[in-house]
Amino acid sequence: MVSLATLELASAPAHRLTLQTAAIAPDSTAIRCLDWDRDRFDIEFELQNGTTYNSFLIRGEKTALIDTSHGKFKDLYLAELQALVNPAEIDYLIVNHTEPDHSGLIGNLLALAPQITVVASKVAIQFLQNQLHRPFGFQMVKSGDRLDLGNGHELTFISAPNLHWPDTMLTYDGSTGVLYTCDVFGLHYCDDSLYDEMPTLLEADFQLYYDCLMGPNARSVLAALKRIEPFAIGQIATGHGPLLRHHIADWTGRYRTWSEAQAQAEPFVAIFYAGEYGHSDRIVHALGQGLLKTATAVELVDLLDTDIPAVRELVSTAAGLVLGMPPQTAPGLEPILSTILAAAHPKQAIGLFETGGGQDEPIFPLRNRFQELGLESAFEPILIKATPTEATDKLCEEAGTDLGQWVNRDRTQKQGQSHNSGLDQALGRLSTGLYILTARKGDVTSAMLASWVIQASTEPPGIAIAVAKDRAIESLLHWGDTFVLNVLEEGNYQRLMKHFLKRFPPGGDRFEGVATYAATNGSPILAEALAYLECTVNHRMEAADHWMIYCTAKTGRVAKPNGLTAVHHRKASNHY
Ligand SMILES: Cc1cc2nc3c(=O)[nH]c(=O)nc-3n(C[C@H](O)[C@H](O)[C@H](O)COP(=O)(O)O)c2cc1C
Repeated sequence: MVSLATLELASAPAHRLTLQTAAIAPDSTAIRCLDWDRDRFDIEFELQNGTTYNSFLIRGEKTALIDTSHGKFKDLYLAELQALVNPAEIDYLIVNHTEPDHSGLIGNLLALAPQITVVASKVAIQFLQNQLHRPFGFQMVKSGDRLDLGNGHELTFISAPNLHWPDTMLTYDGSTGVLYTCDVFGLHYCDDSLYDEMPTLLEADFQLYYDCLMGPNARSVLAALKRIEPFAIGQIATGHGPLLRHHIADWTGRYRTWSEAQAQAEPFVAIFYAGEYGHSDRIVHALGQGLLKTATAVELVDLLDTDIPAVRELVSTAAGLVLGMPPQTAPGLEPILSTILAAAHPKQAIGLFETGGGQDEPIFPLRNRFQELGLESAFEPILIKATPTEATDKLCEEAGTDLGQWVNRDRTQKQGQSHNSGLDQALGRLSTGLYILTARKGDVTSAMLASWVIQASTEPPGIAIAVAKDRAIESLLHWGDTFVLNVLEEGNYQRLMKHFLKRFPPGGDRFEGVATYAATNGSPILAEALAYLECTVNHRMEAADHWMIYCTAKTGRVAKPNGLTAVHHRKASNHY
């Protein structure tokens, strides 16, 4: 029997916050925080129907709370929780995901009940340590780990990394058949129906939620669906919206169909690394940034927290692989590495890095193995011997971009083919000058030949430059960054043009053999330039495959008063 207790927050009629408490299975209670009027979720999407934050209490011989709630429910939630259970009797807080709408009250709960052991994935515990700034007892769990609460309530944890956040796990109670999923299978929909009796009312919000939060990690969704297959699921207790009980096969089937379609549509790169080992997290972040510049999807896999079927699936379907050398001594690694080698195939590119953890798997023998298997090296092995700097980040970002460009080479080639249409040719008649952009930011420098440059304002003097999203220099052209626009001279530009059009290796010095001197903003001025402008980025506008960058010019100088700007004529619009 479901009993409902609804408390209205009388003082805030415009933003109705109410609470619903209901028994959902033996010894299991849902505490749903109903946020009727929330109309936006972060910057992600607009909400039509409010949302809910659901928390659950299981009382075996031991007592466990699963997730908490949003900070705005502090008074309502904590009062209701204390009416249900003496906080001193709560043994475990199971945190399936640490985003603040579910973890916002953990600090308050731990203040009331410091004896609680927080049970979560390794990543979630690390996030919480940064969030809470207070010591707390914890137990890190991996996929397949169990926790016996007594009275038959044995919980099994199922890791579901990247289902929105890397920390995500699901919790299954074998005695009740309830799968507690937090964000997964959730939807932003607020009403006081506890369950999904009316699916037609829910499906639009269910799909919007999937598209915004889960779709970008479709392969991780498929891996998680595979992991939950062995469990007999009687209901899905989600962290947002109604619980799912009446149409489970339909809801999970929709996740499968959408994820399969999404996964087939775009090539992706799988990055395997040992989280928290050496500097691998930082390297992976920089590689990922570089891949994102080429719009390549990325799947991150912690080698120390994964399983063989998931690895096999990802390696066999990925267009590219990155492998960060894990510690040789890590338990269970041998079969994972063998699986990667067995599933890798010649249509893939590979990149390897080593973070100087001291006892890494040797990198060059592995590189040779991948080459023997026919994989293409997207970049030379990256060997990080000292603490990474901005220059290391840039090198890794450029390596990621090189890999992304390899993965997308067919698509890029197609775009580069002339359509021979009137539009294509007419657009090709837009002519410009020739310029070299040069920039320095800290100890990182970069440069690029550019022709899509125009004056864009007179007061203040401003210019606009179209910079392709995957250019190396793009990350030095963010808001507030400074650079130099070097104007090339007619009859005297071939050498510089040839030099800057070379294919530089990741992190390569683009100024070797070129005479420069420093501008007041620190960027290099080319000694052979006809003129230069010192610029500051004021605005960036997304223009499909380019960033349109508007900058104001602070200083400028013409080296040869009678010199003319090199002019660039072309015949078609799909080439510079
Ligand atoms: C004549 C010419 C003009 C170019 N103009 C631009 C431009 O305006 N914007 C741009 O993003 N790339 C432009 N490019 C492409 C880059 O200069 C070129 O790809 C360069 O090698 C970039 O290096 P990166 O990909 O390593 O960053 C131009 C290339 C040529 C040949």
